[in-house]
Amino acid sequence: MAERLFIFDTTLRDGEQVPGCQLNTIEKIQIAKALENLGVDVIEAGFPISSPGDFNSVVEISKAVTWPIVCALTRAVEKDITVAAESLQYARRKRIHTGIGTSPYHIQYKFNSTQEKILERSIACVKYAKKQMEDVEFYCEDAGRTDNEYLARVVEAVIKAGATVVNIPDTTGYCLPSEYGAKIKFLMENVKDIHKVILSTHCHNDLGMATANTIAGIINGARQAEVTINGIGERAGNTSLEEIAMIFKSHKELDIETNVNTKHIYSISRTVSSLMNMPVQPNKAIVGRNAFAHSSGIHQDGILKNRESYEIIDPKEVGIDENTLALTARSGRAALKHRLSNLGIEFSQEKLDDIYEEFLKLADRKKDINDDDILMLAGKDRTTSQRIQLEYLQVTSGAGVRAVASIGLNIAGEKFEAAASGNGPVDAAIRALKKIITRQMTIQEFLIQALNKGSDDVGKVHLQVEHNGVNYYGFSANTDIIAASVEAYIDAINKFEK
Ligand code: KIV
Ligand code: ZN
Repeated sequence: MAERLFIFDTTLRDGEQVPGCQLNTIEKIQIAKALENLGVDVIEAGFPISSPGDFNSVVEISKAVTWPIVCALTRAVEKDITVAAESLQYARRKRIHTGIGTSPYHIQYKFNSTQEKILERSIACVKYAKKQMEDVEFYCEDAGRTDNEYLARVVEAVIKAGATVVNIPDTTGYCLPSEYGAKIKFLMENVKDIHKVILSTHCHNDLGMATANTIAGIINGARQAEVTINGIGERAGNTSLEEIAMIFKSHKELDIETNVNTKHIYSISRTVSSLMNMPVQPNKAIVGRNAFAHSSGIHQDGILKNRESYEIIDPKEVGIDENTLALTARSGRAALKHRLSNLGIEFSQEKLDDIYEEFLKLADRKKDINDDDILMLAGKDRTTSQRIQLEYLQVTSGAGVRAVASIGLNIAGEKFEAAASGNGPVDAAIRALKKIITRQMTIQEFLIQALNKGSDDVGKVHLQVEHNGVNYYGFSANTDIIAASVEAYIDAINKFEK
């Protein structure tokens, strides 16, 4: 019988640390329920000591899900552990995830400490956490750059102190797969009582090796993989859940299975992308828009004759059904509701009515509405209560003429208008807007991306605006990319002009 690999999802903790991807509690609950439906074993719901918002999210997620273990992160600090335990009080199954840096970089520079003192602190925090609950996971931060002998001593000591799971993070994404695999093997072979605990992988993708390292760790004995949906996470991200689930589903010879119902992968990928305003790169394995798109004639011919000639995964296995009919202007509320629910999104009747109105407006401008469009509409609904709203925007531009824009804003019920010229339509519109909102602010990042294909497509705009030394993130989507740019700018301003 195949051996079981536990899937520990940290989309809501490590994934949510990405600047601009912060979620509110309702959105986190929506993702947590989708993760439960997907079949993950552990949901890392947050870092409760870090903010009241994070604390509250862990409390609410604990109430909302039934069977996955809800986990809360802490430092090796008693106060953190007490607060985490309190946040998990309603969880049916709960775990504290505590730990400390074990590499020379952490011990010397971060803590100005010694290996012996860090070892003592590791034991103490596990013992303290153990008084709060039975299930305690310990992480050796930067284990990837920790000497194996010392790492083995720490792992052995925390097992003795009562840890049930020991996490070996490659925090900086530095290890080679052979190196990371050898590290896990070394621990499996040299740590007393290693078989009493589960060893966990937690790999970052700085050198593009997160998935390869995770697989190497599992082949060498780890039985839990810490992952995020779409591989989101700080810097280059974490190991992606969908890749791990599909690798073990495809490579039966590895004799490892997960509890993931892969048919829900596509919908949760899009839900996370839409709620976090984080586009999925088109060529992303498993869930990217192009992952199953065959454009070359040779490939298309091969696929038509026998799918397996160029495709190792049937798209249906990850929930992509090419036969799903696109919605059009003639689709009713029930069809929209059904599609939203397939994508894991439930709305009240009132909210559904609002989204349906937006849907009809979009369907007037765009022939076929697909899942990405619908998720965009569902995400956009969250911004309709903002303090500053775009009332109208008119732009004249073209080759050989200077662009001119006039803009109308509604700021907390009061109307303002301005006009300006610029070196292009977006520049003109932003200059007009800045005549009304005169704060010092600069665009740091500006990304326009088409959702699907065709000249009638919806354009997504992601913006980062710097104000008083802090970056604020804005997003919008519209078939008019100039309007989307201005809306995204306003979305960012609304984050500091509350
Ligand atoms: O990457 C890392 O080391 C982490 C730990 C806090 C688990 O995210
Ligand atoms: Zn991490």
